Amino acid sequence: MDKLEKPKWTEFDGTSSELEMSELLYGLVRMLKPKLLVETGTYKGFTTAWLADAIKENNYGEFISCDINEEYITLAQKYLSSLELSKFVELRCISSYLVEELKEADFIYSDSDYQCRAKEIELAKKGCIIVIHDTSLESWKRYSPTSKYLGDTLATYDGLTFDVSRGFSIIRK
Ligand SMILES: C[S@@+](CC[C@H](N)C(=O)[O-])C[C@H]1O[C@@H](n2cnc3c(N)ncnc32)[C@H](O)[C@@H]1O
Repeated sequence: MDKLEKPKWTEFDGTSSELEMSELLYGLVRMLKPKLLVETGTYKGFTTAWLADAIKENNYGEFISCDINEEYITLAQKYLSSLELSKFVELRCISSYLVEELKEADFIYSDSDYQCRAKEIELAKKGCIIVIHDTSLESWKRYSPTSKYLGDTLATYDGLTFDVSRGFSIIRK
């Protein structure tokens, strides 16, 4: 019975998405088959690998993942190479705001710094599906209590917000 008392999400560290988040993104990308997919915040490439695998399985779509930290891009590149997934994603060491494709993407996983995410949503085109991570009130207090609470921005869009683990939302711009 203990197993049923409190669910746990699979965390590698406090920065990578939970494994369950990556698995959900894999399923969404497999189902929706976006032509242009952008991930903001590559970090060590754990979710990037799931998304690249979905693009590989779809045999369709372009995928760009960006991070402002060169060390993370190098680590992610190595990780993706080890999985033979490099050719399914273009890694860029650049701020999400400067990724021109962000404005044209059909699907965005917004997972850069907390305070960047509202701007990323603003830049996305109408109709884009955007998954935003860390949307719970606890995440806001933990990551960026001095910036605007993301929940207030998200409430102005059609979508669903789930208050599980660190929280996430799926919206249609
Ligand atoms: C929460 S981590 C990303 C986790 C990753 N998506 C995963 O699932 O494992 C946030 C990353 O965003 C990067 N970052 C911060 N500001 C950024 C920006 N403006 N554009 C792109 N990346 C940014 C940080 O360097 C950091 O590696």
